[in-house]
Amino acid sequence: MILKDKVALVTGTSPNIGGGIAEGLAEAGAAIVAVDARAENAADCARYVNGAGGRAIAVTADVTDEAQVKAAVNAAAEAFGKVDILVNNAAIFNKKGVIEMSFLEWQQQTGIILGGAFLFTKHVASLMIGRGAGGAIINIISTAGHQGEPGNIAYSTAKCGLINFTRSAAMELVRHGIRVNSLTPTATDPSESFDRAERWGRAVTRPEGLADRMKAFRSRVPMQKLPRPSDYGHAAVFLASDGAAMITGTDLRVDAGAIARYWAWDPSS
Ligand SMILES: NC(=O)c1ccc[n+]([C@@H]2O[C@H](COP(=O)([O-])OP(=O)(O)OC[C@H]3O[C@@H](n4cnc5c(N)ncnc54)[C@H](O)[C@@H]3O)[C@@H](O)[C@H]2O)c1
Repeated sequence: MILKDKVALVTGTSPNIGGGIAEGLAEAGAAIVAVDARAENAADCARYVNGAGGRAIAVTADVTDEAQVKAAVNAAAEAFGKVDILVNNAAIFNKKGVIEMSFLEWQQQTGIILGGAFLFTKHVASLMIGRGAGGAIINIISTAGHQGEPGNIAYSTAKCGLINFTRSAAMELVRHGIRVNSLTPTATDPSESFDRAERWGRAVTRPEGLADRMKAFRSRVPMQKLPRPSDYGHAAVFLASDGAAMITGTDLRVDAGAIARYWAWDPSS
């Protein structure tokens, strides 16, 4: 229970990655504040953690609305007295390129990914500074934030921006004992999120042929298999723990080796 007595606020707690990270932090002993714009994603995550013997509350909030962000942080402080760990995970997907994307769509997607991380970092870090006990902030990136991607302009730009937001916030908050790091997921094995949704009591229809579609992804990554949300959960527990006490301003890639590989040429073949 390396996060015993810690409190973790996680944004974007769908049964996929945010839910996997929240469950991982809860299994390590942290109380969870599950925050999502979709009430059922916050509520189901919190209900599952409570039912599994942990402690959790659900907060419905839009990460781009500062009043709602403040209310979420206040709800965390009221319920648990503090926040030790913040995971900025909420995002939307909208695969469009620079030509076809409207400016409004650009603003919405970058607003959620970058603006949401900014607002939650601002208000959670203020709470952490007031307590004087430090903390750990983890921003969720994507392999799309590390390389140029066609047809995904706002997402890959915002995720890349979040890498330097992480470094800049880390440099600013270091004097308060707050560590800021990022965690990079990649194309994710979808089966665990269906399992989680079922565990959360939802009716799930698994899309036919999904396993075959994921084969193509698997064959392209060095490990020939894809990470699961629980793999990101383990990495988040590490970044939040005292085991990472000397780590700030860095990115931990949990990507089955994807970014390390130069894809265009294999000199060994
Ligand atoms: N799925 C992947 O393969 C993958 C790969 C790399 C990185 N990621 C990253 O992992 C994170 C989670 O992705 P996921 O696949 O679990 O996505 P998801 O769509 O399942 O979950 C995202 C959650 O964020 C919430 N959300 C969206 N806008 C919000 C807002 N304005 N305010 C509050 N909540 C909001 C959604 O309701 C949802 O619950 C994201 O940051 C994503 O960029 C995902």
